[in-house]
Amino acid sequence: MLELNNITKSYQVGPTQLDILKGANLSVQEGELLAIMGKSGSGKSTLMNIIGLLDSPTTGSYTLNQRSITQYHDDELSAARNELIGFVFQSFYLLPRQSALENVMLPLRYRNMKETQSREQALLMLEKVDMAERADHRPNELSGGQRQRVAIARALVGQPRLILADEPTGALDPRVGKEIMDLFIDLNQREGITIIIITHDPGVAARCQRTVIMEDGRLRDA
Ligand SMILES: Nc1ncnc2c1ncn2[C@@H]1O[C@H](COP(=O)(O)OP(=O)(O)OP(=O)(O)O)[C@@H](O)[C@H]1O
Ligand SMILES: [Mg+2]
Repeated sequence: MLELNNITKSYQVGPTQLDILKGANLSVQEGELLAIMGKSGSGKSTLMNIIGLLDSPTTGSYTLNQRSITQYHDDELSAARNELIGFVFQSFYLLPRQSALENVMLPLRYRNMKETQSREQALLMLEKVDMAERADHRPNELSGGQRQRVAIARALVGQPRLILADEPTGALDPRVGKEIMDLFIDLNQREGITIIIITHDPGVAARCQRTVIMEDGRLRDA
């Protein structure tokens, strides 16, 4: 599904150069459920942004779907983000003035899907995460776990082959966190969706097939 070779990422902050990623390698097969762990500030989110085509590496090569990302044009990058990848972030990033349903419809609107059809698909997805009854609520009228479920519905509505989740259970109480993990495992096993989860929780990592650890700017097996 994807392969990262010798990825580096450096930031220039004033006069100093910060080398965050220093030659990270990662190969992920279609259908894998992978956990990424590592200390705060070690570069996990930086790597995830590169994997999700939200940022580019300073050096190194990245192949997604058998194609080097250097061969993607800008419009192809956004198409790949919209069609191939579903993002779930710790802080949800739901639009505050829009209902749960409208938030989930958003990726379909970007694809110019018809209103009635996107409404229908978004509702189906909200049912899947058990949030149909709250479809008309705005994010501030939902609990943290409910918001995360809406964010997951939004990530899934476009039927991505790859889900990137950056601490999806970090802000949730353990019971709700377990439910979110149940949902991911179900999607992985039943639909073969490739899932990469960044987590600080060893319990979450233990439920994944494989764990890699970010350390000194590189990934190593757990
Ligand atoms: N735009 C930026 N400019 C400069 N430094 C940055 C930038 N983005 C991230 N960093 C630095 O890169 C390092 C890695 O950040 P990153 O967010 O990838 O860590 P992380 O492993 O996800 O940590 P956490 O577990 O706390 O989320 C941090 O030291 C951070 O300060
Ligand atoms: Mg992070």
